Amino acid sequence: MSLAVALTRAQEGVAAPLVTVEVHLSGGLPGTSIVGLPEAAVREARDRVRVAIQNTQFEYPARRVTVNLAPAELPKDGGRYDLAIALGILAAGGQLPRESLHGCEFLGELALSGELRPVTGVLPALLRARHGKRCVIVPVENAREAALLNDVEVRVARTLAEVCAHLRGAESLPAPRNDDAMPSPAGSGGPDLADVRGQLQARRALEIAAVGGHHLLMIGPPGTGKSMLAARLPGILPPLDENEALQACAVRSVCGLPIEPGDWKRRPFRAPHHTASGVALVGGGSHPRPGEISLAHHGVLFLDELPEFDRHTLEVLREPLESGRIVISRAARQAEFPARFQLVAAMNPCPCGYAGDPNGRCRCTPDAIARYRGRISGPLLDRIDLCVDVPRLPLSELDGARRAQDESSETVRTRVIGARARAMARAGKPNAALSTREIERDCALGDGERALLQRAMDKLGLSARAYHRVLRTARSIADLADSDRIGRAHLAEALQYRRGDAGAAHA
Ligand SMILES: Nc1ncnc2c1ncn2[C@@H]1O[C@H](COP(=O)(O)OP(=O)(O)OP(=O)(O)O)[C@@H](O)[C@H]1O
Ligand SMILES: [Mg+2]
Ligand SMILES: [Zn+2]
Repeated sequence: MSLAVALTRAQEGVAAPLVTVEVHLSGGLPGTSIVGLPEAAVREARDRVRVAIQNTQFEYPARRVTVNLAPAELPKDGGRYDLAIALGILAAGGQLPRESLHGCEFLGELALSGELRPVTGVLPALLRARHGKRCVIVPVENAREAALLNDVEVRVARTLAEVCAHLRGAESLPAPRNDDAMPSPAGSGGPDLADVRGQLQARRALEIAAVGGHHLLMIGPPGTGKSMLAARLPGILPPLDENEALQACAVRSVCGLPIEPGDWKRRPFRAPHHTASGVALVGGGSHPRPGEISLAHHGVLFLDELPEFDRHTLEVLREPLESGRIVISRAARQAEFPARFQLVAAMNPCPCGYAGDPNGRCRCTPDAIARYRGRISGPLLDRIDLCVDVPRLPLSELDGARRAQDESSETVRTRVIGARARAMARAGKPNAALSTREIERDCALGDGERALLQRAMDKLGLSARAYHRVLRTARSIADLADSDRIGRAHLAEALQYRRGDAGAAHA
């Protein structure tokens, strides 16, 4: 029987399910059919593969060629199956030893010349292949991301001919070079907090946000340093561990974005413009692609001018803000993408930007201000633990030399890492991710503190969610102070960052 089997992988969210390519040659009219839910680009593989095989000095079988992609219910798209299909056809026709395909997985699109073209999602595929103990052959242009993993056997190839030579044992393919995958020292590079003058309260809030992974909203007039501060959050966060870095890179890989070997361990920082579409922001499309919130996985999503974002899109954020993932459903398929990002948002206090400014420059009516703030819904605001004013600075603070209070990112980061380590030792996760039960265990209050919190809840009209969020923030503040117990001062400070509730509800 002229049957050959080659393994490859599909792309489904950031997963990479195994796909078995079966090729059967039979008598009858020459022709090729591909079955197994192939979409247009996969059906076109028929022509690409035929020409590529001919241009590689092989013969395309003059028989009936049936290619089956299993499992059939998995929709298949793109040119990523080309290489596996070509090898299956060559093996079925006896131009390659059939056993030579065993123990390997193949990824790659074919050019008509027989050259291999890069595909998206190589990293997710390799993460899955880790467990299969098979060698994975990938196009040379995907070598950089392939080099990030050192526990999978990977070989890189330029052409179909090279892959065939390797499989026949004539010439073996090289492994991706690992040396340029060495990460630069974590936290290096990027803008430094030492550039920011004053804004002590905002700096403090940024530090607490970094400790616990809390979401942060900065409110202030134009040009006071909100964007500067936001851009400096990744630089004070604890380093990504290997696994987190790989997960973050996997999203980039699915999007076909480059992964720089030098800084693949750096925390993502995504700052989409407010005109970005809903799909660009949260992901979607008929072949679901991840959006900015997934590209910010394990990093920071900065939404500048928050009220200018499409209201519906902001509402969609509510779910991932709590669950850390987004499920995109389309008629044909469903995809899930990770989206455990830390939200940093900035806004002006009113449409003109100067409400509350001592020089009385703001001419906005209370109505206009209410409408402006009302664009951010209560439920969204409820999920933001830290809300802080970033007021205009007096000139005296801006000019002149850097003062001791303008600490560098390095100094702040050292404190953050220490405080985060306490949280990790206690609960195994950052404080913002504590479940209700873990809050009961780790955020127990004394009588005095409980009374304070009760009064504040009544006064600010806090929701049950806000109550838990205050406790998580207070836990982070206590961790920064190296305190096992949440003290009165920690709780009071945490409450102070919730003024947003009252502001939005009653402005
Ligand atoms: N606290 C600060 N320390 C040092 N420079 C500052 C500070 N605030 C503002 N600047 C200067 O003003 C510029 C604008 O700051 P930034 O973009 O952070 O303002 P913003 O608060 O985001 O304003 P907008 O509301 O218009 O977006 C900075 O590039 C910097 O030159
Ligand atoms: Mg700005
Ligand atoms: Zn105004």
